[in-house]
Amino acid sequence: MPDHGYDDIKHGLRQTPASISPKYFYDQRGSALFEAITRLPEYYPTRTENALMHKHADAMAQAVGQGRTLIELGAGNCQKARALCRLIRPAGFVGVDISADYLRDAVQGLRRDFPGLDARALGADITQPVQLPADVPRSGRLVFYPGSSIGNFDPPHALQLLAQMRELAGDDGGLLIGIDLPKDIAVLEAAYDDAAGVTAEFNRNALTHVNRLIGSDFDVQQWQHRAFFNAGDSRIEMHLEASTPVHVRWVGGERHFGRGERIHTENSYKYAVPVFTDMLARAGFSRAQAWTDERGWFAMVHAQP
Ligand code: AVJ
Repeated sequence: MPDHGYDDIKHGLRQTPASISPKYFYDQRGSALFEAITRLPEYYPTRTENALMHKHADAMAQAVGQGRTLIELGAGNCQKARALCRLIRPAGFVGVDISADYLRDAVQGLRRDFPGLDARALGADITQPVQLPADVPRSGRLVFYPGSSIGNFDPPHALQLLAQMRELAGDDGGLLIGIDLPKDIAVLEAAYDDAAGVTAEFNRNALTHVNRLIGSDFDVQQWQHRAFFNAGDSRIEMHLEASTPVHVRWVGGERHFGRGERIHTENSYKYAVPVFTDMLARAGFSRAQAWTDERGWFAMVHAQP
């Protein structure tokens, strides 16, 4: 991870509109809150992706092959890796995640479940060039990026990230990636504004995390969760809205927010399959096979150079 004074956070907070990168959701508490989100009745992506992988397990295993080196980006609790390992019996596993402590425990659990699996944890920010340990085999790699995490990046950055995955996969490797598809707006918006308020807590937790990182004094109580679908850009947007005038100070700066002023915390892009496979092609993955559920809500794509 780059050794910075979190200048990106301070820069984002000085902009109008202000923004905080969604990568700052994932401290220890944020990772746990995200896990809680994946179990919410309104949050269909995780459930739909799991069902897809279960239903098409044989075809996916066939397409991907056995004995690979599985490289998961944003591995989190490694639950998805565990399911995939049962299916494709990889020789090695490298979990990469920005939340390094959380990841280390999860990889430990994976090692227990799959004796003989060379499983490792790499704490890294995947928006930066990722350096794998030198002894990770170059041949037979499968990059795994489930959960529609690619949706967090705007299209130019998503393309850049796919190009990095193409590099990581190598010429004989593959990519297995989950994408969330465009659908009914009410379904989309409920998934990001659940009745129990877990997503609101997850959103606000970014401020608690940022307070710790840059020494800011955000009062979480003063910020309201906002989530809506931006149809023009085919994305869910999440924001935090000041419910009262707020003055925030941090190490080396300060900022005033008027009542109703927002901090943009997340985009979650929804790609139709052909739009996405076009992007894959531009990143160097010219072959792609997609599996979708019967409602057409989510897709799992296997791509190869
Ligand atoms: C982890 C980026 C896939 O966009 O659905 C869930 C994050 N944000 N609820 C998503 C998230 C609010 C999630 N991703």
